[in-house]
Amino acid sequence: MNVLVIGANGQIGQHLVRKLHESPHHDAIAMVRKEDQMKNFEKQGVKAVLVNLEGSIDDIAIAMKEADAVVFTAGSGGHTGADKTMLIDLDGAIKSVKAAQQAGVERFVMVSGIGVHRWHDDNHLEWMDSSQHYSAAKYYADIWLERSGMNYTIIRPGKLTNDAETGKIQTGEDLEHKQISRGDVASTIIASLENQQTIGKAFDLISGETLIVKALESL
Ligand SMILES: NC(=O)c1ccc[n+]([C@@H]2O[C@H](COP(=O)([O-])OP(=O)(O)OC[C@H]3O[C@@H](n4cnc5c(N)ncnc54)[C@H](OP(=O)(O)O)[C@@H]3O)[C@@H](O)[C@H]2O)c1
Repeated sequence: MNVLVIGANGQIGQHLVRKLHESPHHDAIAMVRKEDQMKNFEKQGVKAVLVNLEGSIDDIAIAMKEADAVVFTAGSGGHTGADKTMLIDLDGAIKSVKAAQQAGVERFVMVSGIGVHRWHDDNHLEWMDSSQHYSAAKYYADIWLERSGMNYTIIRPGKLTNDAETGKIQTGEDLEHKQISRGDVASTIIASLENQQTIGKAFDLISGETLIVKALESL
């Protein structure tokens, strides 16, 4: 499968591109926003495309023309203001879904945030109160994807760490705000792409005791 990774230069993105590149079943297309990032990927033998999420839907769609699937793992990051959160985490995510539809790509995996689907619930997770713009952005981007008619999977990881991968996870509808390593998130994304049962599913994701493939089988 040719997988276009949006946010390829990010921390999850780099794990994901490496794993796809090393897999005999897949190939990665790294979508990045800077020339030197593109050159770095190309040096590793990875195909890369230069597109900024603040650009047009047409440009994003052109980058997707050889893709069988798209993974959105971009984000404006905690250091930027609410304006960039809206432009990247909300508008950029929705433009990516629209671009995938325009390009005829049917499979889309979204990296969301733990508990985001409960944003409007009285008992939503505490972290959302200090990240309100981000929570709202992720909430509506996920809803847009769910209603898009695409073959989607929405993965809502807990607090991301750079700990060593364990290959074991816990998935669920309403999990506690616990941690997961970025490497395990990347492996879960690939396992989701390889499992048709994950289509049309959305789930919280934290580190756990169940092998990734098994955990996804019981969604
Ligand atoms: N932090 C957490 O605990 C947490 C928890 C759950 C979910 N998440 C989500 O997990 C995902 C990835 O996390 P991460 O740690 O890998 O994030 P990261 O390292 O900050 O990576 C985000 C990537 O998005 C790219 N990006 C930002 N603006 C862009 C633009 N205008 N056009 C194109 N690309 C752009 C960045 O590009 P540059 O490399 O050029 O800056 C970066 O490569 C995000 O969607 C985040 O919201 C995070």
